[in-house]
Amino acid sequence: MSKKDVSLSVIKRLPRYYRFLGEMKKNGVQRISSGELSNRMGFTASQIRQDLNCFGGFGQQGYGYNVEQLYAEIGNILGVNIKNKTVLIGAGNLGRAVAAHMSFEERGFQLIGIFDKNEALAGQLVRNIPIRHIDGLYDFCKENSPTVAVLCIPSESAKEITDELVSLGVKGFWNFSHHDISADHPDVAVENVHLSDSLMTLSYHINNL
Ligand code: NAI
Repeated sequence: MSKKDVSLSVIKRLPRYYRFLGEMKKNGVQRISSGELSNRMGFTASQIRQDLNCFGGFGQQGYGYNVEQLYAEIGNILGVNIKNKTVLIGAGNLGRAVAAHMSFEERGFQLIGIFDKNEALAGQLVRNIPIRHIDGLYDFCKENSPTVAVLCIPSESAKEITDELVSLGVKGFWNFSHHDISADHPDVAVENVHLSDSLMTLSYHINNL
């Protein structure tokens, strides 16, 4: 099976495998069976075998999985070592929190620029990166060729900025803005984040305990 044929639900589970395996590696665990992995992660053992078979297995009958090797393989599949150059647009409450707390470098990205339209923010440092005025976005992108953007701006500002970024070569968006990027740009990769969806899912669960 080629990577492109792997279902979205499997892809969505990979970061969770990666996180769990990373914790096991840190705790010195060298190997684990699919049964143990399933107990820890809450997926069935057969689900885990099926998921990992999509990428060629990695396990050995009677031995289980080598934690370090599986961690590295899943990291490769996710592309965590690639370091896509990334810009963040909107250095308000959300943008600063994302810039300051997200370990981009450990997840396949390198944050190289932060932009905002508010001139009063220009020059302030977030994680040692200066906030730049949005007017400098074009020149910055021409010079540095970022391929990913994180949008932390209101949806009404997002369309114009997205069109500009796509025309400058950005191919992936981590989109907090609530603007529907895919409608205008079906060929770019978009990961929409809606914290409110997660909150409403909690609402459903708590009301159905
Ligand atoms: P904020 O008002 O603190 O920050 C927004 C920043 O974007 C401001 O600094 C503003 O100057 C800047 N900005 C606006 N238009 C811009 C443009 N065209 N170019 C560059 N910078 C621009 O707001 P906050 O709390 O940081 O939220 C930002 C957006 O994210 C809001 O629209 C909010 O609805 C959304 N949001 C989404 C969440 C989610 O889960 N997807 C969670 C929280 C907020």
